[in-house]
Amino acid sequence: MDPNLINNIESRFRSAFNLEPVIIGSPGRINLIGEHVDYNEGLVLPAAIDKGVVVALQRAVNNPVGLSKVIASDPGESFEFDLNHALYPLEKGGWRNYVIGVVAEMQKLGCPLGPFNLVFGGNLPQGAGLSSSAALENGIVFGLNELFCCNLSKEEMILVSQRAEQNYAGVQCGIMDQFASMFGKAEHFLFLDCRSMEYTAVNGTLNGYHWVLLNSKVSHALADSAYNQRRALCEKTAALLGKKSLRDCSLHELQGLKKKGTLSEDAFQKASYVVKEIERVRRAYEALKNKDAQSLGDYLFETHQGLSQAYQVSCPELNFLVAVAQAHTGVLGARMIGGGFGGCTLNLVKEELVTDFTEQSLEAYHREFGIKCEVIPIHLSEGTHLIGRA
Ligand code: GLA
Repeated sequence: MDPNLINNIESRFRSAFNLEPVIIGSPGRINLIGEHVDYNEGLVLPAAIDKGVVVALQRAVNNPVGLSKVIASDPGESFEFDLNHALYPLEKGGWRNYVIGVVAEMQKLGCPLGPFNLVFGGNLPQGAGLSSSAALENGIVFGLNELFCCNLSKEEMILVSQRAEQNYAGVQCGIMDQFASMFGKAEHFLFLDCRSMEYTAVNGTLNGYHWVLLNSKVSHALADSAYNQRRALCEKTAALLGKKSLRDCSLHELQGLKKKGTLSEDAFQKASYVVKEIERVRRAYEALKNKDAQSLGDYLFETHQGLSQAYQVSCPELNFLVAVAQAHTGVLGARMIGGGFGGCTLNLVKEELVTDFTEQSLEAYHREFGIKCEVIPIHLSEGTHLIGRA
């Protein structure tokens, strides 16, 4: 985590509250492969990155009325709330809903929380699909767990974060983002089974190649409702086969439903994408272990095609960036990452051609959309952790 960011949040906290804070670092994530499969109990390969959210907090010992106060350092907003009153999601609450969501979900578990003061800030670009919300939720639950000695395990903490997102921000997300942010390991991707929650860390370094993250700088509206619709459709399709999730369904079974006329072409395409993607993650995991960059690259392109054509969560800007990548000799694979409708592409690029590729992408993208996309430098990093305590 950037030392300047840590210093900045720490001094903002000191000047606002005149107390010594506990400081937590909580990263964002990328995902190598396994998109829109976590909520289908599938397999994913995400990693935490060296950009995220820093949270500084302390018990509100000198606040006579017992309110808790939270400050978002950028955009410089704050709000206060009373822990003794029931906490409901706020209309257009933005970041506030992540905070009260985590607090409320911890209270439901019986955590002995008291009034606290908190300042947070981060360096994840807004709307880039790098899970700034999971980073914030994890940072808050980790910090409150530390401050009030709640003894929650990391597994319990990520479930608090996920429920905050679902019940207070209204996104029926899977567990991938919160998991990657909490359990990240430097230089590694996490091969996670979202059903059993078992995982294996795999080294993500491929000699001679770089992982290049390009931010399209677009994030289209309605992404959240489209996300929830996709999830509901997957669950409905699995239920038609009497299964708990698409993890248990085969392409053959889906074809059978389509032939009977029980499944629309659209639902068939989307469910087939999920079933194929889960299988692709298994192969990508083997390829990564074997340092087989060529096969990995092919899988990335295949996933992008599935997300764009069958699952329909891409957008013209992301498709354009992937097409530019596909036409470049230095690129082995590229795809959109995250929920979709904007955000970033992840590219696997030959080391010596990284500059050529990024320059070409930036220029072509600007010519096409009039938008300056950006390269986000990343390192695979450790998960949510304590940076310091007073
Ligand atoms: C968002 C969600 C995750 C996951 C991805 C798509 O990031 O929060 O749970 O579903 O989209 O893979």
